[in-house]
Amino acid sequence: MSDFPGFPPGFVFGAATASYQIEGAVREDGRGPSIWDTYSHTPGLVANGDTGDTACDHYHRYPEDVALLRDLGVDSYRFSIAWPRILPEGSGAVNPKGMDFYSRLVDELLAAGIEPAATLYHWDLPQALEDRGGWRVRETAERFAEYTAVVAEHLGDRVPRWITLNEPWCSAFLGYSVGRHAPGAREGRGALAAAHHLLVGHGLAVSALRAAGVREAGITLNLDRNLPATGSPADLAAVVRADTQHNLVWTDPILAGRYPATEEETWGELITGADFRRDGDLELISQPLDFLGINYYRPIVVADAPYRESDPARRVATDNRYEEVRLPGVRHTAMGWPVVPESFTDLLVRLKERYGDALPPVHITENGSAEDDAVAADGGVHDTDRVAYLRDHLTALRAAMDAGVDVRGYYVWSLLDNFEWAFGYDKRFGIVRVDYDTQERTPKDSYHWYRKLIAAHRG
Ligand code: FCB
Repeated sequence: MSDFPGFPPGFVFGAATASYQIEGAVREDGRGPSIWDTYSHTPGLVANGDTGDTACDHYHRYPEDVALLRDLGVDSYRFSIAWPRILPEGSGAVNPKGMDFYSRLVDELLAAGIEPAATLYHWDLPQALEDRGGWRVRETAERFAEYTAVVAEHLGDRVPRWITLNEPWCSAFLGYSVGRHAPGAREGRGALAAAHHLLVGHGLAVSALRAAGVREAGITLNLDRNLPATGSPADLAAVVRADTQHNLVWTDPILAGRYPATEEETWGELITGADFRRDGDLELISQPLDFLGINYYRPIVVADAPYRESDPARRVATDNRYEEVRLPGVRHTAMGWPVVPESFTDLLVRLKERYGDALPPVHITENGSAEDDAVAADGGVHDTDRVAYLRDHLTALRAAMDAGVDVRGYYVWSLLDNFEWAFGYDKRFGIVRVDYDTQERTPKDSYHWYRKLIAAHRG
C-alpha cells in the first residue's frame, strides 16, 4: 500500500448496498409491493425483463454477506430499509416480520463488530402511496416521517448513522421526469413538486430521528461536477442549468435554507409560482445535519441544447436545454461514464467554497465502477480497472481533505453485484461477484485490494 495516501485515525471505511437491489424475497413475510416491483414487471422497462424478485437473495443469505463484510474488515455497512416491508400499505399497521428482518441484520452486524448505517429510502416507495399521488403529493412526505419514527423507535438505539433519502435527484427526476426509474412518469411540474416533497420528507424525517435520539442524521445526495463542453457562453449557461437541476435544488435548501437563485432560468414557467411550497418549509428542510452523504461516480460534460419539446405545456422538468456529451481521451466504465478522479476533488472543494461552515462533515456514501468482469480460468475475478478506479478516487478524496474538506468516511458501491435498476443485472458494480444462477459469491481482486487497504490503515 506504499503507493497509497493515508487517512486520519477514525476514518470510516465501509461498503454499501440497497434493499431492492439485493434482497429478493419480494413476496415474503408480508412485504407489500413497491413502485420498483411494478416498474420492473412492466414489459420493456428494464433490460432483459430483469426484476428484483430474487436479486442476490440477501434476505435469506444475509449471514453469509455479513461474514464477507467482516472478512473485508469494514468499519461500517450501509444498507437500506424497504419501507414496504415495514408498512406494506405505506402507512397504518406495522409488519413485525419486516422489522424483525432488519433487527436480525443489525444484530448480526454488531456481533461482527460492524457499525450499521441505515438508509430509510432507497427508492422502493410502497405502491399504495404511489397510487395516491406518490412524491407529487405532500401526504407522502408525512407518511415518510411516520415510517421513519416507527423504524427509529425499533432500531434507533442500535443503528448510529441514519440517512433519510438516497439521491432524491433520481427519485424526482429519473422517476417523474425522465421516466427511466419507477414510477416511470414524464412530467414537468409534477417532477418539481416531487423534488420539493422529497425535501419536506427529509426535513420531517430528521425531526423524527431527533425525537428518537439517534446519534447521527444526514441525507445522501448524488452531486455532480458539471463541466462545460466548450468555453462558449451558451455552454457555460447550460452548466448553470445543469448545476441547478443536479445540485443546487438540493444543496441550497438543505445547507443554506433558500431556493436556488437560478431556478427560473432553469425551469421557466414550470417553477413560477410553485404552489406546492409552504411557509416554514425551508426551516424544516435546512435543519442542521450531523453529516452530508455524497455519492460520486463521474463528471457530466454539458453542452447547450434546444428544448426537445417545442410545446411548453408538454415539457418535462429535465427538458431544460442541456445535454450530456462524451468526454474524449479518458477511459469510460461499462456504464459509459468517464473516469475523471480530479472531478471528485473539485466537486468537494467547490462545495466547501460555496457553503463554508454550513457544510457538515461529509461521508462518501457511494463510489465505485461497473466493469465487464469475467471469471478467469483460475476462478478469480481480476478486475484491475475497478481497482484502479477505487485507488484513484480514494487518492482524489484525500486531496480534497488536504484542501480542507472535512470527510469522515467512504463507502464503496457495492459489496455485491446487484440489480442495477433499469440496467437489470447487466451492470456489475460489486467487489464481490454474484453468480445469479447459483447465488455463489466470489470476492474479486478489488475486494482483496480494499481489504489490504483497510488493514494497512489500521496498522
Ligand atoms: C446510484 C444508486 C445506487 C447504484 C449506483 C450505481 O445512483 O444510489 O443504487 O445504482 O448509483
